[in-house]
Amino acid sequence: MTEEYGLLDPAEGEGEDFGDEWEEIDVSDTEADRIARKRDRKFAEFRKRLKDADQFKVEQSVFDDATFAAIYKLVQDGYIDAFGGPISTGKEANVYEALGAEDTDVAVKIYRINASNFQHMREYLEGDPRFEGIGSNKKEVVLAWTKKEFANLRRARKAGVRVPEPIAVERNVLVMELVGLVEDRARRLAEVSVENPETAFEVVREYMRRLYDAGLVHGDLSEYNLIIHDGELVVIDMGQAATVHHPNADDFLDRDCRNVASFFTRQGLDVDPDDLRAFVTGEASESASENA
Ligand SMILES: Nc1ncnc2c1ncn2[C@@H]1O[C@H](COP(=O)(O)OP(=O)(O)O)[C@@H](O)[C@H]1O
Ligand SMILES: [Mg+2]
Repeated sequence: MTEEYGLLDPAEGEGEDFGDEWEEIDVSDTEADRIARKRDRKFAEFRKRLKDADQFKVEQSVFDDATFAAIYKLVQDGYIDAFGGPISTGKEANVYEALGAEDTDVAVKIYRINASNFQHMREYLEGDPRFEGIGSNKKEVVLAWTKKEFANLRRARKAGVRVPEPIAVERNVLVMELVGLVEDRARRLAEVSVENPETAFEVVREYMRRLYDAGLVHGDLSEYNLIIHDGELVVIDMGQAATVHHPNADDFLDRDCRNVASFFTRQGLDVDPDDLRAFVTGEASESASENA
Protein backbone atom coordinates (compact mmCIF):
# COMPACT_ATOMS: atom_id res chain seq x y z
CA MET A 1 0.00 0.00 0.00
CA THR A 2 2.66 2.48 0.94
CA GLU A 3 5.00 1.19 -1.75
CA GLU A 4 4.39 4.01 -4.16
CA TYR A 5 5.74 6.53 -1.70
CA GLY A 6 8.57 4.27 -0.73
CA LEU A 7 8.17 4.15 3.05
CA LEU A 8 11.64 3.28 4.19
CA ASP A 9 12.10 0.20 6.37
CA PRO A 10 13.82 1.06 9.63
CA ALA A 11 17.16 -0.58 10.25
CA GLU A 12 16.49 -3.75 12.15
CA GLY A 13 17.64 -4.64 15.62
CA GLU A 14 19.37 -1.38 16.41
CA GLY A 15 17.49 -0.76 19.62
CA GLU A 16 19.53 2.33 20.43
CA ASP A 17 18.48 4.73 23.09
CA PHE A 18 18.63 7.82 20.94
CA GLY A 19 17.41 10.16 23.64
CA ASP A 20 20.67 10.18 25.55
CA GLU A 21 23.12 10.30 22.72
CA TRP A 22 24.25 13.92 23.06
CA GLU A 23 27.16 14.63 20.86
CA GLU A 24 29.90 17.04 21.75
CA ILE A 25 29.78 19.93 19.35
CA ASP A 26 33.11 21.64 19.00
CA VAL A 27 32.97 24.98 17.24
CA SER A 28 36.44 26.18 18.09
CA ASP A 29 39.02 27.00 15.45
CA THR A 30 38.47 24.76 12.44
CA GLU A 31 40.92 23.53 9.84
CA ALA A 32 39.13 25.83 7.38
CA ASP A 33 39.80 28.84 9.60
CA ARG A 34 43.47 27.91 9.68
CA ILE A 35 43.58 27.54 5.89
CA ALA A 36 41.89 30.92 5.46
CA ARG A 37 44.40 32.55 7.79
CA LYS A 38 47.43 31.05 6.13
CA ARG A 39 46.23 31.94 2.62
CA ASP A 40 48.90 29.93 0.88
CA ARG A 41 49.18 30.15 -2.87
CA LYS A 42 47.17 27.01 -3.60
CA PHE A 43 44.26 28.24 -1.55
CA ALA A 44 44.46 31.73 -3.06
CA GLU A 45 44.28 30.24 -6.54
CA PHE A 46 41.39 28.00 -5.58
CA ARG A 47 39.48 30.90 -4.09
CA LYS A 48 40.01 33.00 -7.18
CA ARG A 49 38.79 30.19 -9.45
CA LEU A 50 35.69 29.70 -7.35
CA LYS A 51 34.98 33.43 -7.10
CA ASP A 52 35.19 33.70 -10.87
CA ALA A 53 32.90 30.75 -11.47
CA ASP A 54 29.51 31.83 -12.77
CA GLN A 55 27.50 30.13 -10.07
CA PHE A 56 29.35 31.98 -7.30
CA LYS A 57 29.44 35.42 -8.87
CA VAL A 58 26.47 36.68 -6.92
CA GLU A 59 27.87 35.25 -3.70
CA GLN A 60 31.13 37.15 -3.57
CA SER A 61 29.83 39.46 -0.94
CA VAL A 62 28.27 36.76 1.23
CA PHE A 63 30.92 34.06 1.25
CA ASP A 64 33.85 34.90 3.43
CA ASP A 65 37.35 33.49 3.10
CA ALA A 66 36.79 30.82 5.73
CA THR A 67 33.77 29.57 3.77
CA PHE A 68 35.91 29.29 0.65
CA ALA A 69 38.48 27.51 2.81
CA ALA A 70 35.84 25.05 4.04
CA ILE A 71 34.95 24.26 0.43
CA TYR A 72 38.65 23.96 -0.38
CA LYS A 73 39.09 21.46 2.45
CA LEU A 74 36.11 19.41 1.24
CA VAL A 75 37.59 19.36 -2.26
CA GLN A 76 40.99 18.30 -0.90
CA ASP A 77 39.39 15.57 1.16
CA GLY A 78 37.67 14.25 -1.95
CA TYR A 79 34.05 15.00 -1.03
CA ILE A 80 33.54 17.58 -3.77
CA ASP A 81 34.95 17.30 -7.25
CA ALA A 82 33.23 20.09 -9.14
CA PHE A 83 30.38 22.52 -8.56
CA GLY A 84 27.20 22.56 -10.58
CA GLY A 85 24.54 25.21 -10.43
CA PRO A 86 22.59 26.51 -7.46
CA ILE A 87 19.44 24.59 -6.53
CA SER A 88 18.18 27.07 -4.00
CA THR A 89 19.05 30.41 -2.47
CA GLY A 90 17.39 30.59 0.91
CA LYS A 91 17.39 32.99 3.81
CA GLU A 92 20.14 31.21 5.70
CA ALA A 93 21.78 28.92 3.20
CA ASN A 94 22.38 28.25 -0.46
CA VAL A 95 22.19 24.75 -1.87
CA TYR A 96 24.29 23.73 -4.88
CA GLU A 97 24.54 20.63 -6.99
CA ALA A 98 28.02 19.21 -7.16
CA LEU A 99 29.94 16.21 -8.31
CA GLY A 100 31.08 14.20 -5.34
CA ALA A 101 33.36 11.23 -4.79
CA GLU A 102 33.21 8.39 -7.32
CA ASP A 103 31.04 10.28 -9.79
CA THR A 104 28.08 10.57 -7.46
CA ASP A 105 25.96 13.72 -7.41
CA VAL A 106 25.82 15.53 -4.12
CA ALA A 107 24.02 18.52 -2.67
CA VAL A 108 26.19 21.12 -0.93
CA LYS A 109 24.42 23.35 1.57
CA ILE A 110 26.39 26.46 2.45
CA TYR A 111 25.20 28.42 5.46
CA ARG A 112 25.96 32.10 5.39
CA ILE A 113 27.73 33.35 8.45
CA ASN A 114 26.06 36.72 8.09
CA ALA A 115 22.65 35.11 7.96
CA SER A 116 20.03 37.74 8.49
CA ASN A 117 17.86 35.77 10.89
CA PHE A 118 20.63 34.54 13.04
CA GLN A 119 18.58 35.43 16.09
CA HIS A 120 16.07 32.82 15.06
CA MET A 121 18.86 30.20 15.10
CA ARG A 122 19.79 31.07 18.67
CA GLU A 123 16.26 30.43 19.83
CA TYR A 124 16.40 26.90 18.53
CA LEU A 125 19.86 26.20 19.93
CA GLU A 126 19.19 27.53 23.39
CA GLY A 127 17.70 24.78 25.45
CA ASP A 128 19.09 21.97 23.31
CA PRO A 129 21.34 20.00 25.67
CA ARG A 130 23.68 19.19 22.79
CA PHE A 131 24.57 22.88 22.55
CA GLU A 132 24.99 23.87 26.13
CA GLY A 133 27.51 26.65 26.53
CA ILE A 134 27.42 27.77 22.92
CA GLY A 135 28.47 31.37 22.63
CA SER A 136 26.48 34.21 21.18
CA ASN A 137 29.08 34.69 18.52
CA LYS A 138 27.54 34.54 15.04
CA LYS A 139 30.15 32.25 13.66
CA GLU A 140 29.82 29.78 16.50
CA VAL A 141 26.06 29.68 16.21
CA VAL A 142 26.12 29.04 12.47
CA LEU A 143 28.83 26.39 12.84
CA ALA A 144 26.88 24.63 15.55
CA TRP A 145 23.76 24.82 13.37
CA THR A 146 25.54 23.15 10.44
CA LYS A 147 26.91 20.39 12.65
CA LYS A 148 23.50 19.97 14.17
CA GLU A 149 21.92 19.46 10.76
CA PHE A 150 24.54 16.81 9.98
CA ALA A 151 23.94 15.04 13.31
CA ASN A 152 20.16 15.26 12.92
CA LEU A 153 20.27 13.78 9.43
CA ARG A 154 22.37 10.94 10.71
CA ARG A 155 20.06 10.29 13.62
CA ALA A 156 16.97 10.44 11.39
CA ARG A 157 18.46 7.93 8.96
CA LYS A 158 19.23 5.51 11.75
CA ALA A 159 15.64 5.80 12.87
CA GLY A 160 14.34 4.80 9.44
CA VAL A 161 13.34 8.25 8.24
CA ARG A 162 14.13 8.89 4.59
CA VAL A 163 16.40 11.94 4.60
CA PRO A 164 19.39 12.77 2.38
CA GLU A 165 22.42 10.77 3.47
CA PRO A 166 24.82 13.13 5.25
CA ILE A 167 28.30 12.79 3.75
CA ALA A 168 30.59 15.41 5.24
CA VAL A 169 30.51 18.63 7.21
CA GLU A 170 33.17 21.31 7.36
CA ARG A 171 32.58 24.52 9.22
CA ASN A 172 29.43 26.03 7.65
CA VAL A 173 29.30 23.68 4.65
CA LEU A 174 27.34 20.43 4.57
CA VAL A 175 27.69 17.77 1.85
CA MET A 176 24.83 15.31 1.44
CA GLU A 177 23.26 12.96 -1.02
CA LEU A 178 21.51 14.74 -3.87
CA VAL A 179 17.93 13.53 -3.97
CA GLY A 180 16.84 13.17 -7.57
CA LEU A 181 19.10 13.80 -10.51
CA VAL A 182 20.83 16.88 -11.78
CA GLU A 183 18.73 16.61 -14.96
CA ASP A 184 15.56 15.56 -13.10
CA ARG A 185 15.41 17.51 -9.90
CA ALA A 186 13.43 16.44 -6.86
CA ARG A 187 10.35 18.63 -6.32
CA ARG A 188 8.89 19.98 -3.13
CA LEU A 189 5.61 18.43 -2.13
CA ALA A 190 4.20 21.95 -2.49
CA GLU A 191 5.13 21.99 -6.19
CA VAL A 192 3.60 18.73 -7.35
CA SER A 193 0.06 17.49 -7.56
CA VAL A 194 -0.04 14.72 -5.01
CA GLU A 195 -1.42 11.63 -6.73
CA ASN A 196 -2.36 9.62 -3.69
CA PRO A 197 -2.61 11.92 -0.70
CA GLU A 198 -3.74 9.16 1.72
CA THR A 199 -0.59 7.18 1.15
CA ALA A 200 1.64 10.25 1.19
CA PHE A 201 0.10 11.30 4.50
CA GLU A 202 0.64 7.84 6.01
CA VAL A 203 4.29 8.00 5.08
CA VAL A 204 4.81 11.51 6.46
CA ARG A 205 3.00 10.63 9.67
CA GLU A 206 5.10 7.49 10.12
CA TYR A 207 8.32 9.45 9.57
CA MET A 208 7.21 12.01 12.15
CA ARG A 209 6.56 9.19 14.61
CA ARG A 210 9.94 7.56 13.97
CA LEU A 211 11.68 10.88 14.34
CA TYR A 212 9.92 11.45 17.63
CA ASP A 213 10.85 7.94 18.82
CA ALA A 214 14.44 8.84 18.01
CA GLY A 215 14.12 11.87 20.27
CA LEU A 216 13.76 14.53 17.57
CA VAL A 217 11.14 17.02 16.46
CA HIS A 218 11.66 18.46 12.97
CA GLY A 219 10.51 21.96 13.87
CA ASP A 220 9.94 23.25 10.33
CA LEU A 221 7.99 20.47 8.72
CA SER A 222 5.67 21.39 5.88
CA GLU A 223 5.16 20.74 2.18
CA TYR A 224 8.25 22.93 1.60
CA ASN A 225 10.63 20.64 3.45
CA LEU A 226 9.36 17.39 2.00
CA ILE A 227 10.71 16.59 -1.41
CA ILE A 228 9.59 13.91 -3.77
CA HIS A 229 11.46 12.04 -6.43
CA ASP A 230 10.56 8.90 -8.30
CA GLY A 231 7.63 8.22 -5.99
CA GLU A 232 9.80 8.55 -2.91
CA LEU A 233 9.14 11.09 -0.18
CA VAL A 234 12.20 12.57 1.50
CA VAL A 235 12.33 14.78 4.60
CA ILE A 236 14.89 17.62 4.31
CA ASP A 237 16.10 20.74 6.11
CA MET A 238 16.92 19.37 9.56
CA GLY A 239 19.08 22.23 10.82
CA GLN A 240 16.50 23.44 13.30
CA ALA A 241 15.33 19.99 14.41
CA ALA A 242 15.45 19.88 18.21
CA THR A 243 15.48 17.08 20.70
CA VAL A 244 12.32 16.25 22.58
CA HIS A 245 14.03 17.67 25.69
CA HIS A 246 14.07 21.15 24.19
CA PRO A 247 11.86 23.47 26.25
CA ASN A 248 9.95 24.43 23.09
CA ALA A 249 9.78 20.92 21.63
CA ASP A 250 6.03 20.75 22.30
CA ASP A 251 5.39 23.96 20.42
CA PHE A 252 7.60 22.84 17.53
CA LEU A 253 5.68 19.56 17.33
CA ASP A 254 2.32 21.33 17.47
CA ARG A 255 3.32 23.58 14.62
CA ASP A 256 4.62 20.66 12.54
CA CYS A 257 1.35 18.81 13.09
CA ARG A 258 -0.71 21.85 12.13
CA ASN A 259 1.32 22.44 8.96
CA VAL A 260 1.12 18.83 7.86
CA ALA A 261 -2.59 18.52 8.74
CA SER A 262 -3.37 21.71 6.90
CA PHE A 263 -1.53 20.62 3.76
CA PHE A 264 -3.24 17.24 3.61
CA THR A 265 -6.61 18.78 4.43
CA ARG A 266 -6.14 20.94 1.34
CA GLN A 267 -5.49 17.69 -0.54
CA GLY A 268 -8.97 16.57 0.43
CA LEU A 269 -8.19 14.42 3.48
CA ASP A 270 -9.73 14.80 6.88
CA VAL A 271 -6.67 15.26 9.07
CA ASP A 272 -6.93 16.62 12.58
CA PRO A 273 -3.69 18.08 13.98
CA ASP A 274 -4.41 16.73 17.50
CA ASP A 275 -4.93 13.21 16.18
CA LEU A 276 -1.73 13.50 14.21
CA ARG A 277 0.10 14.62 17.32
CA ALA A 278 -1.34 11.73 19.30
CA PHE A 279 -0.17 9.30 16.61
CA VAL A 280 3.32 10.80 16.60
CA THR A 281 3.80 10.78 20.37
CA GLY A 282 1.88 7.57 20.99
CA GLU A 283 -0.40 9.36 23.45
CA ALA A 284 -4.13 8.97 23.03
CA SER A 285 -5.97 12.11 22.01
CA GLU A 286 -9.63 12.54 22.87
CA SER A 287 -10.92 12.51 19.36
CA ALA A 288 -8.65 9.59 18.48
CA SER A 289 -10.08 7.43 21.27
CA GLU A 290 -13.63 8.39 20.30
CA ASN A 291 -12.98 7.22 16.78
CA ALA A 292 -11.29 4.02 17.86
N1 LIG B 1 19.72 16.77 -0.55
C1 LIG B 1 19.00 17.45 -1.43
N2 LIG B 1 18.69 16.93 -2.63
C2 LIG B 1 17.96 17.64 -3.53
N3 LIG B 1 17.50 18.88 -3.32
C3 LIG B 1 17.77 19.45 -2.13
C4 LIG B 1 18.52 18.78 -1.13
N4 LIG B 1 18.62 19.59 -0.06
C5 LIG B 1 17.97 20.72 -0.38
N5 LIG B 1 17.44 20.65 -1.63
C6 LIG B 1 16.70 21.72 -2.32
O1 LIG B 1 17.09 22.97 -1.82
C7 LIG B 1 16.00 23.65 -1.20
C8 LIG B 1 16.46 24.34 0.08
O2 LIG B 1 16.99 23.40 0.99
P1 LIG B 1 16.62 23.44 2.52
O3 LIG B 1 17.46 22.41 3.19
O4 LIG B 1 15.15 23.34 2.68
O5 LIG B 1 17.16 24.87 2.96
P2 LIG B 1 16.43 26.21 3.43
O6 LIG B 1 16.86 26.33 4.86
O7 LIG B 1 16.98 27.26 2.57
O8 LIG B 1 14.94 26.01 3.32
C9 LIG B 1 14.97 22.55 -0.97
O9 LIG B 1 13.66 23.05 -0.98
C10 LIG B 1 15.21 21.60 -2.11
O10 LIG B 1 14.55 22.06 -3.26
MG1 LIG C 1 13.69 24.46 3.58
